[in-house]
Amino acid sequence: MRVGIVGLGYVGLPLAVAFAAADVDVVAVDLDARLIDAIAAGRSHVEDVPAEALAAALPRLHPTTDYARLRDTDAVLICVPTPLSANREPDLGPLLACAQELGGVLAAGQLVVLESTSYPGTTRERVAPLLERGGLRAGVDFHLAFSPERVDPGRTDFTLANTPKVVGGLTEACGDRAEEVYRTVCSSVIRVGTPEAAELTKLLENIFRAVNIALVNELALLTDRMGIDIWEVIDAASTKPYGFMRFEPGPGMGGHCLPVDPFYLAWRAREFDMPLEFIELAGKLNQQMPYHCVAKLQRTLNEQGRAVRGARIALLGVSYKPGVADVRESPALKIIALLRELGAEVVYHDPLVGELAAHGLRSLAAEEALAGADLALVVTALPGFDYAGLAARVPRVLDLRGVVPPAAGVVRL
Ligand SMILES: NC(=O)c1ccc[n+]([C@@H]2O[C@H](COP(=O)([O-])OP(=O)(O)OC[C@H]3O[C@@H](n4cnc5c(N)ncnc54)[C@H](O)[C@@H]3O)[C@@H](O)[C@H]2O)c1
Repeated sequence: MRVGIVGLGYVGLPLAVAFAAADVDVVAVDLDARLIDAIAAGRSHVEDVPAEALAAALPRLHPTTDYARLRDTDAVLICVPTPLSANREPDLGPLLACAQELGGVLAAGQLVVLESTSYPGTTRERVAPLLERGGLRAGVDFHLAFSPERVDPGRTDFTLANTPKVVGGLTEACGDRAEEVYRTVCSSVIRVGTPEAAELTKLLENIFRAVNIALVNELALLTDRMGIDIWEVIDAASTKPYGFMRFEPGPGMGGHCLPVDPFYLAWRAREFDMPLEFIELAGKLNQQMPYHCVAKLQRTLNEQGRAVRGARIALLGVSYKPGVADVRESPALKIIALLRELGAEVVYHDPLVGELAAHGLRSLAAEEALAGADLALVVTALPGFDYAGLAARVPRVLDLRGVVPPAAGVVRL
């Protein structure tokens, strides 16, 4: 079997390496020629793909910018980005460009699977017509399915191999073929009846998280006013053996998924006269969190008789979650902008994020970042960082993640 993967990012590259590791030849396509050169030279930009894994995969992995190379494959898996536009509507530009290119090289009998997250109807209504432009018919001359990627970057206990893979084919035969292909790299495949059901499954998973995070964030805003420790409450509630699932408050949501995906559904739902209020409300609450965190920082400094203007604030962790280099939609970016507007001097330490070019900042060693800082702001928990020793190194710590042990000078969200 030969598999093609289009889009070699956080989703596509691990998938390509997994197929190569299963002795499948992989044609790996991306628009970005520099990325293709780097992958061909064995340099990985995704933490979940260590250099050794990429090196081991390379004999079977064929990185290229040329879509025509996909013609010789049995299956093509699409993993291009599905972002929001500036006015927060689905931007299917990269996906439609990919489907258009693919439509020009598709061969009869191939399987095409969309893995990029999108609203129900995308595979059938938007992707299929572009794939059919060469005259082949979806579900008749070639197979088409949707299968959401569930990868959780940085996670090692659940990977592609042991996370059940949901598959919805345009026809029964399309689903059968997609299941067969995924069985090469996944131990469990879950079939649903249509691409739309598979598309909505992914959105339900992410909306569930977004709404529950918003719920604890709202409670954190309340407990801040009431003088109750939200972390103590969450720890206590989490002892219930059933009917409760732990979610934690924080400075807001980041990454390519949670801040984006729910709005794909909200947008589609409006076409059905159905404003999705849970999603909009969760988005509103989560977006407020960086502002709340900065207001809390202002109060914390105020208690020391310090203003934000002129204060040196050391951010610890700027990626959107622990153990990854990804800063897309990271609340740290908003917090940095807000602190600078107030006249603070901002520095940061994050071993995985060497620089924040748009902000003109480089990661400093922890010593250097904390030296002379008026406050350390824990935005994202850094794996292996000595939080127990932090209170002794700076006058104040504001911990937005509940990872710093209680001590004098430590304030928690
Ligand atoms: N990152 C995650 O944790 C995650 C998890 C589950 C699902 N997803 C979904 O998977 C999809 C991809 O996400 P990602 O994080 O891997 O994105 P990414 O930005 O890391 O990678 C996408 C890659 O696609 C390439 N690309 C863009 N347009 C292209 C085109 N027309 N042809 C060929 N290549 C093209 C880009 O150059 C880039 O290398 C998105 O729909 C996302 O919502 C992401």
